[in-house]
Amino acid sequence: MIPLKTLQDRISYAFDSTGFVREPVRLYEPIAYALEQGGKRLRPVLVLMACDLFGGNIEDAVYPAMGLEIFHNFTLLHDDIMDNAPLRRGKETVFQKWDKNTAILSGDTMFVMAYEYVARTDASLLPMVLNLFNDTARMVCEGQQYDMNFESQANITIPDYMMMIRLKTAVLIACSLKLGAIIAKADATHIEKIYDFGIELGLAFQLQDDFLDAFGDTAKFGKAIGGDIATNKKTFLYLKAFELARGETLAILAKYVEGNEITASQKVAGILDIYMELNIREITLLEIEQHHLKALEILHSVDLSPETTNELIGLMQVMLGRER
Ligand code: IPE
Ligand code: IPE
Ligand code: MG
Ligand code: MG
Ligand code: MG
Repeated sequence: MIPLKTLQDRISYAFDSTGFVREPVRLYEPIAYALEQGGKRLRPVLVLMACDLFGGNIEDAVYPAMGLEIFHNFTLLHDDIMDNAPLRRGKETVFQKWDKNTAILSGDTMFVMAYEYVARTDASLLPMVLNLFNDTARMVCEGQQYDMNFESQANITIPDYMMMIRLKTAVLIACSLKLGAIIAKADATHIEKIYDFGIELGLAFQLQDDFLDAFGDTAKFGKAIGGDIATNKKTFLYLKAFELARGETLAILAKYVEGNEITASQKVAGILDIYMELNIREITLLEIEQHHLKALEILHSVDLSPETTNELIGLMQVMLGRER
């Protein structure tokens, strides 16, 4: 079993040894900027890990894994325009550093590159791999549209939110694991179970991202805190607060959300105060834990070797920040 650090190094090496800049520089420089900053590179590492755990050769999975990471970064270039986000990985977002048109077109190019890399798969597996990638990419776009729709929609429920984050985030995490398993030629039951495990992990991961957007530290998180609050994102935190707030607190919360005659930072500070008053912090951590437990349950329902199970548990702990 290949250690996590070795898998991470393999992915870093793959990106470091690829030159992304060519003519026209204005198109490719932002691509290099996004891909060379790294980020956590969780998705390609998940691909390699699943491939290794199911007995495959990780070298067969490196290009498809890079493809998923390039796809992920493409979604971030466009997501930052949609969310009006100034900061990512501690640096200016692409649309902020260049402009929106650049971020759109460099993003489009990355989507094409993602296909080029994903398609570098064993020919016998290609139809299955492309089906998986097509379905996933479409679902991510659907999730992103729900995310945008919900900003201006009232009466969004927590099940609506779960449906939306499943699409925008969890399916790509699940796809990463499934892709690794397919490349390793794992059996069909294992492939489906690892996907279901990835969905629960992905839900917990997005819940945690929403948690950190409110309660994180920019220096560690690399993104501006309060962006979700400022843009009225219907996060779990927001929906829980509206579910629990009563009387005066509810009236103040609604006023802050309207945001009339206050600055964005007053809005963020006011809503964070209400989150604290309503215990939203602890409630969200509990919800993350629920999905962590569900993921464990799925894992224990599969006849994997104890080593494989432990490796996946360790990975989940790293992703959900339990060891850092
Ligand atoms: C950010 O993903 C978008 C979400 C789905 C929360 P990551 O947190 O994996 O971002 P990077 O790639 O490590 O920067
Ligand atoms: C991002 O969700 C999901 C996708 C990019 C598909 P967020 O909008 O919460 O991600 P961050 O917080 O900007 O990374
Ligand atoms: Mg965003
Ligand atoms: Mg977004
Ligand atoms: Mg976020």
